[in-house]
Amino acid sequence: MVIIETDRLILSHLAPDDAEFVLELLNQPSFIRYIGDKGVRTLDDARRYIADGPARSYEVNGFGLNLVRLKVSNTPIGICGVLKRDTLPDPDIGFAFLPSYWNQGYALESAAAVMTHARETLGLERILAITSPDNEASEKLLGKIGLRFCRLTKLAEDADEVKLFSNIPVKV
Ligand SMILES: CC(C)(COP(=O)(O)OP(=O)(O)OC[C@H]1O[C@@H](n2cnc3c(N)ncnc32)[C@H](O)[C@@H]1OP(=O)(O)O)[C@@H](O)C(=O)NCCC(=O)NCCS
Repeated sequence: MVIIETDRLILSHLAPDDAEFVLELLNQPSFIRYIGDKGVRTLDDARRYIADGPARSYEVNGFGLNLVRLKVSNTPIGICGVLKRDTLPDPDIGFAFLPSYWNQGYALESAAAVMTHARETLGLERILAITSPDNEASEKLLGKIGLRFCRLTKLAEDADEVKLFSNIPVKV
């Protein structure tokens, strides 16, 4: 299901057929370093990740991480969308792209469109984001779509500290 179209990109719901791409993306060193190791090592793991993560979120919340494809070739290049975690009071925007598609404005183009969609179509007002403290590329992108640093936080008592960002000043 297509959710958002931009000049160069199509954002659509992740489906079981996207397992191969998900397997590749989730095992990028950059993904593991800045987001985490989801333990997805096989196509079956990737199918399970899609079902239990994004697909479940579409059902429960009406939104979730989308697949991002290039319009010209249909090539999948990343994921971008809004998540709702039990550990945060409001939805947060998330994104990750294959390194060969960095520095071409694709991440910004999709994240900006996801923000507009979140506010105008989903009716979400406050959007958060979390990054690891040293993820400068991500912080720069968040600034461009209007999210400002709030404070350091932890999603669980035994978790590492992350930076919390919001489009509206927030006390959480
Ligand atoms: C975070 C991440 C998505 C950012 O990707 P990115 O490539 O830096 O973002 P963009 O594609 O928007 O590229 C930005 C750069 O491309 C340049 N750019 C923008 N539009 C462009 C265009 N049309 N043509 C060429 N270059 C362009 C910009 O000048 C910008 O550089 P600048 O910030 O120095 O001005 C990427 O680093 C990533 O996937 N990291 C791993 C996962 C991750 O950390 N996710 C976030 C977890 S919180």
